[in-house]
Amino acid sequence: MHEKMYLKALVLYLLVWIASAAYQPQNIIKKQPKGFESSLIFPVTGNVYPKGYYHVTINIGQPPKPYFLDIDTGSDLTWLQCDAPCTKCTPAPHSLYKPSKNLITCLDPICTSLHGPGNHDCPTPQEQCDYEVDYADHGSSLGVLVRDSFPLRLTNGTTVAPHLVFGCGYSQEVVDTAHLPYTDGVLGLGIGKSSIISQLRILGLTRNVVGHCLSGQGGGFLFFGDGFLPNSGIVWTPILSQSKYYSLGSADLHFGGQATKVKGLPIVFDSGSTYSYFSSQSYSALVSLIRADLSGKPLKEAVEDITLPLCWKGAKPFKSVREVVNYFKPLTLNLKDKVQFHLRPEAYLIVTVHGSVCLGILNGGEVGLGHLNVIGDISLQDKLVIYDNERQRIGWAAANCNRLPKS
Ligand SMILES: *[C@@H]1O[C@H](CO)[C@@H](O)[C@H](O)[C@H]1NC(C)=O
Repeated sequence: MHEKMYLKALVLYLLVWIASAAYQPQNIIKKQPKGFESSLIFPVTGNVYPKGYYHVTINIGQPPKPYFLDIDTGSDLTWLQCDAPCTKCTPAPHSLYKPSKNLITCLDPICTSLHGPGNHDCPTPQEQCDYEVDYADHGSSLGVLVRDSFPLRLTNGTTVAPHLVFGCGYSQEVVDTAHLPYTDGVLGLGIGKSSIISQLRILGLTRNVVGHCLSGQGGGFLFFGDGFLPNSGIVWTPILSQSKYYSLGSADLHFGGQATKVKGLPIVFDSGSTYSYFSSQSYSALVSLIRADLSGKPLKEAVEDITLPLCWKGAKPFKSVREVVNYFKPLTLNLKDKVQFHLRPEAYLIVTVHGSVCLGILNGGEVGLGHLNVIGDISLQDKLVIYDNERQRIGWAAANCNRLPKS
């Protein structure tokens, strides 16, 4: 069975327009004085293979109900599958979210932030604010923006229930119906104002910092705020200004410690993408390097395993990537100022149920990513990765993701 990969994140565009129905304007949230910001931490469930995604459980509504949301640092808007009623929903672990007179209007700053300048799509301020979000190769969600309560226990012990804006998605298009994530929606943690983390910041609850630690054994943790940063050992690099994504500027690829002709790769970090993607040219170059390096080693290409485009088999089926790490060289992305992002073989290979080992770096050209190079879950595993929107920088550090840290 051919397993197409999700590229969950990377919103290519986000359209908001007017729906026909006029709607009663809601009170705009009063600006609250900035407090002493606290932090939030959530246990994470999921894995790269076979599940293909990591999710957290978030309680939403009054009374609160739990929802499984896919962690996505590649897009801004959080949305839930929604009974508005739903015209196209996918099977989900919980019942659909039911909006109750809590639609936001075009007047709402979150709606205007989605429009961008001009506001052509929302000419009448009292109209409801519709949205559409498209993911690179993974379909789309269409719906209307609502506001509801998110009961949260801050790490300083205080329980809060901020009213946050998210999408009530009543029509989801999916590209690959055979490998749907079994979730209720997406937790958008991108740079934009509609992101949950930006909203918590405006309310003075947490600082605009997101961190995740995705374990290679499955699970891990996610945090908001700066209460869980280690005192030392973080390598920081600036986020490119003007980018809509968590972009790192360009990197040169080293293969087994040696410089290669693959240079100047623009890098994007995206936890919504299961695998990593290189642009077509860099992908071909990488595949040539790996093939040349494997010649003479006891691995043969396994064309019969179509889990991913490129797989190899040994004399006996493999059970774990550990059995093959000696056949594959580490990769390094060399960024400005001698900053390095290391990819051990575990960060770019999976072992399939058929016992072959497959390359978890895919050709982004084939899914319309153009020149972008996306660092997805497979390469973010077993590291603490911090997206610091307060200081426009991304950092990473070695970490044990199997245990929740203490604040
Ligand atoms: C915890 O942090 C929140 C958010 O800043 C603040 O409103 C609250 O007063 C704090 N609670 C304590 C006990 O410090």
